[in-house]
Parts: sequence; C-alpha cells; structure tokens
Amino acid sequence: MYTSEEILEKINQGLAGLNLEGRPFGLYQPIRYVLSMGGKRLRPVLMLMAYNMYRDEVDSVLPVALGLEVYHNYTLLHDDVMDRAEVRRGKPCVHVVWDENTAILSGDTMLVLAYRLIAESPSRHLKEVMDLFTGTALEIGEGQQYDIDFEERMDVTGDEYIEMIRLKTSVLLACALKIGAMLAGASASDSDALYRFGEKIGLAFQLQDDMLDVYGDFNTFGKKIGGDILCNKKTYMLIQAMACSCGKSHDELLRWINASDFDADEKVRAVTAIYDEVGVKGMCQNLINEYFHEARVILENEVRLPLEKKQLLWEYALSLLGRVS
Ligand code: IPE
Ligand code: IPE
Ligand code: MG
Ligand code: MG
Ligand code: MG
Repeated sequence: MYTSEEILEKINQGLAGLNLEGRPFGLYQPIRYVLSMGGKRLRPVLMLMAYNMYRDEVDSVLPVALGLEVYHNYTLLHDDVMDRAEVRRGKPCVHVVWDENTAILSGDTMLVLAYRLIAESPSRHLKEVMDLFTGTALEIGEGQQYDIDFEERMDVTGDEYIEMIRLKTSVLLACALKIGAMLAGASASDSDALYRFGEKIGLAFQLQDDMLDVYGDFNTFGKKIGGDILCNKKTYMLIQAMACSCGKSHDELLRWINASDFDADEKVRAVTAIYDEVGVKGMCQNLINEYFHEARVILENEVRLPLEKKQLLWEYALSLLGRVS
C-alpha cells in the first residue's frame, strides 16, 4: 500500500501534468495559478487511499482523483467571491489578482474540466460514479446557499449549522472515499460505510476550519483570520456564544453583527474576546473529537477489511485533527 505522502506526490505530479495551456490566456492562466498554489489535496488523497485499501495500483484511477481536486478548486474560486475573501493559501485570490468575472468563468471552466476528468472512470463504474458526483455537486451548491442565507439570519440552530456544513463540505469528502471504494469494486456495504466515515470526518474538518478562522495563525492557515466574523457567518462558535446563558455576550454579539460602520480589526478582536469568555473553542474541540470518535467506530466496525488495511487511512484522518493549514 502507498503512504499518504506517496499518494500526495502522485496527485501533485498528475496536476502538474494536466494540459491547461489553452487559449485565451485570461481563462486558463487563473486555473494554472490556483492549481499551482498548493493545498492539502485532501479529497483526491482520500479517494486514492480508499481505492488502495482494495487494489494495489492507483494510477489507473488517478484522473478521477484529479477531477475531484479540480472540482474542489472551482468551488474555492466562487467561494472567495461569495465570502469577500482576499487571501487563500497565503496568496491573493483569483478575483483579487484578476477580477470577479475571471473567478466566475475560470471557475465554471474548472467545473467542466472536472467532469471531463471524472468521466475517465472505467466504463463499468461510470454511471454510478457520475450519479454520485453529480448528486454531491448539487448538495454542495445547496450547502453554500444555506451558508450565505445564514449570514442574514439570527435564529440559526446548531442542527441547521451541522446540516449546512454537511452539505457544503462533508459530502465531498464522503463522495471521494466512496468513489475510491466503488472504482475498486468494494462491496456496497463497505462503500456506504466509507461514505459515512467521510461525512463524520468532514463535519469535524469544517468545524476545525471555522475554529482556525478565529484561532489559527495566518502564516500557516493562509487565510485571513477573522474572515468568518466579518461576514457574520453563523458558525458553531457564534451560535454557542449567542446561546450563552449570561445574556451579556448575546447582546454584545448582536450589536457587532448589526453594526454597519465599524473597524474590521476591532470587530474581530471584540468578537474573539467574547468567544474566549464563553469558552467556545473548547466546545468546538469537544464536538470535533466526538465526530472523530464516531468516524473511528464506523471505520473499525463497518468496513469489512483487516485492521492493517485501514490503518493508513485512519492515521491520515487523524493527522487532519492536528492541522494548522
Ligand atoms: C477549504 O478546503 C474549504 C473547506 C471546505 C474548509 P481545504 O482546507 O481542503 O483547502 P485546501 O485545498 O487544502 O487549500
Ligand atoms: C467552503 O467553506 C466550502 C466550499 C468551498 C464548498 P469556507 O468558506 O469555510 O471555506 P474557506 O474557509 O473559505 O476555505
Ligand atoms: Mg470561504
Ligand atoms: Mg464559504
Ligand atoms: Mg472557512
């Protein structure tokens, strides 16, 4: 079996080998830019690790894995416009280097390129892979719309938040794992279990992303700290702080959320101070740990493979718990 590092190397080589030299320059240059600025390559790594648990080689399905990464990067181009974000992976976003029209059209083109790559799935699995991926892409759009809708709402519940992050983030990790399993010819029950494992890991992953958005270090996280606070994103941390029984944090948060004229750094500082007082970081960490535990139970008990076959995937998932980027 390949280690996650070896798989990552294959993915990065594969991405570098994609022919993205088309014309006009203004359409393809931003695509090369975003794909060359790094990233953890989480989704294709998960797909190939799942595949590799059943099959010795992974090269035959590499295009599908690359398609998942191209798709993910397309969502980032649009997400950064929607979230008014200016920096990603430590570099200016596409809509900043070029403009919003470029982020929209180069993003759309990446979606099409992703479909072309995923359609390289071996023909006996093509329909099931396309059905799963298409359903997932629709769900991600739904999750992203909820995320935007929630910016304007003050009554978002914890359950609504979890469903929103399941849709915008978890389902792609789950889909990646399941595609890997399906392409390898795993049983339907193993494929489904890996999907549910991915959902749990994905929930933890997005909770952690939201936590790093407040408590991370810009130099490693590569995104502006406090970006979610400035967008009034209804994160688990904000929902918990609003629900805090002392009442004071609720009123103060409401004032910041409704303020129209404020200094951005001051708002981030003030909201973070309320989070500190309520202790939302610990609450968030507890929930992350719970989802990881649930993921582990599914992998251990419901994926019918010898333990040693599942070890590398578990270690890789676990390494995400300590991520700083
Ligand atoms: C960013 O995804 C978007 C989220 C779902 C949080 P990643 O954290 O996987 O971003 P990269 O690809 O490694 O930069
Ligand atoms: C992004 O969630 C989810 C998708 C791109 C579909 P975020 O908005 O939290 O991701 P970042 O923080 O910008 O990477
Ligand atoms: Mg964003
Ligand atoms: Mg977003
Ligand atoms: Mg985020």
